Amino acid sequence: MGIQIAPSILAADFANLERDIVAVSDADWLHVDVMDAHFVPNLTLGLPVLERLAQVSPLPVDAHLMIDDPDRWAPKYAQAGAASVTFHLEAAHDPVALARTLRGMHTRASVALKPGTPVDDLLPHLGEFDMVLVMTVEPGFGGQAFMPEMLPKITRLRQAAHDADLDLWIQVDGGISGDNVESVVAAGADVLVAGSAVYGADNPNAQVGLLRAQAQGAHHH
Ligand code: DX5
Ligand code: ZN
Repeated sequence: MGIQIAPSILAADFANLERDIVAVSDADWLHVDVMDAHFVPNLTLGLPVLERLAQVSPLPVDAHLMIDDPDRWAPKYAQAGAASVTFHLEAAHDPVALARTLRGMHTRASVALKPGTPVDDLLPHLGEFDMVLVMTVEPGFGGQAFMPEMLPKITRLRQAAHDADLDLWIQVDGGISGDNVESVVAAGADVLVAGSAVYGADNPNAQVGLLRAQAQGAHHH
């Protein structure tokens, strides 16, 4: 797998979601941010909306669950049609058991780390996951500034995955734009979430193509 682009519909027009999904049809995934006003100080959408989005989307749905108690809720998002489900390490009671449950449902299992969460505890368990999401902003809102101090975390994960011979995807989310795609890809990220950079452009699909071309130029592994 090369570089993949996952536009975040958090930056779309919530009154025109189907139109704005079609507007990014050249991408690889549709990134859907689920927030519960407890794990993060914002509230977006939940199961019924995600289920309907998955039905109309030409792209597979990448659900990013910024919610408490994912052990209880994440399997329901897989059932609702998400092809990849990301839950936060900080919120999960038993991350490995949850990942096994998701994989058992033929869903990609992914775990996310807030900026303040170190990777160390995760490294021995990397084989349990299909993807790790390294947050490059504090989760909760779009349009924030990228945190370059997260780059070493990406490098360590990529090295550990390489050493263990794992086909691990590394996703980055938060403030991703043409200004930093090269540095995140050079560090080892291969799935790029972009909200405002894609939907803030006049032509979202063209912007997806630009980000992809820029990222492929920096991709070596
Ligand atoms: C933030 C969300 C992101 C957000 C990214 O908590 O997880 O997916 O939509 O938006 P930008 O790309 O604008 O930082
Ligand atoms: Zn997200």
